[in-house]
Amino acid sequence: MRIYVALTFITSFVSPCGLFAQHSYLPSDIDDGRRIYETSCGTCHGAFGDAVPGIDLGRGQFRRAKSDEDLVRIIRSGIRDTTMPPFNFNESQATMVVAYLRNMTAMPVDRNAPIEVLGPPGDATRGKVIFEGKGKCLTCHWTNGAGNITGPDLSSLNGGRGRRSPAELRRSLLEPNAEVRPENRTIRVVTKSGATSTGNLLNQDTDTIQLLDPKLGLASFMKADLKEFELVPSPMPSFKGLLTDQESADVISYLLSLK
Ligand code: HEC
Ligand code: HEC
Repeated sequence: MRIYVALTFITSFVSPCGLFAQHSYLPSDIDDGRRIYETSCGTCHGAFGDAVPGIDLGRGQFRRAKSDEDLVRIIRSGIRDTTMPPFNFNESQATMVVAYLRNMTAMPVDRNAPIEVLGPPGDATRGKVIFEGKGKCLTCHWTNGAGNITGPDLSSLNGGRGRRSPAELRRSLLEPNAEVRPENRTIRVVTKSGATSTGNLLNQDTDTIQLLDPKLGLASFMKADLKEFELVPSPMPSFKGLLTDQESADVISYLLSLK
């Protein structure tokens, strides 16, 4: 029961403006849904879900769907006599896509980010010095084989579809809590016997949950043993005011240079 309450909290945290009754979705499902969306849906509906006129998938603007169940059905059956095709997804895959649609606007895509928001041109070599020194980024981040696992591995940000734009990196640096990616969310659990663990939610199934706790390493819990399960704000500090505009630009250039 407590778990259910906490999961509802995740959804309200992620999408405060739901238009009709919504379900609670796990960060990992939202992220899997994003991957499916990008490969199967984005070509027609666009990266922001608003490319088909009259439909805005990320903002709950639908012509036909009234509930999450309707969305699952439409995805699996398509819409007859239109170009919306049926997808050969099982119920759980279609549900992941819906989890993403319901949280799409909370994902870090900044469609209006003007280019000047980026500030002065950065220098990756100076950025590396700040990253390893004054910025203390390695106290939390794992990068090129060194550092810590409290935060995500930053050397993997430049590959493939998940590639972060300079504007997104800048926002992560200056306003870390503005938009935290589902896969980077920090979860805190308390067991019935009072043990606590805080870390990145790695995985879960119906009975168990696994966190990557920087102190304990990989920690696995039986859900039945948990008293609490909650989302906590990002431990990443804002570097607004701590780094000058030039220093932020240098760090961003360094992040963009990582492989
Ligand atoms: C080949 C183009 C195409 C692809 C690919 C596609 N769609 Fe669609 N989709 C459409 C069109 C066009 C409509 C509008 C149909 C109509 O109502 O005339 C639509 C309608 C919808 C609707 C109904 C919205 C409403 O108004 O109720 C949903 C939900 C939807 N699509 C989700 C998806 C998802 C999720 C995917 C990927 C798994 C996807 N679509 C892939 C073209 C596409
Ligand atoms: C106290 C720990 C801590 C420190 C220090 C820290 N970070 Fe983070 N960082 C995190 C955590 C945890 C996340 C994941 C949650 C989030 O996105 O806010 C994160 C997220 C990020 C992201 C977004 C990653 C993504 O997947 O898009 C970037 C970029 C980033 N940090 C860069 C930096 C840089 C650069 C520094 C140093 C100037 C730094 N961080 C210092 C903990 C930290």
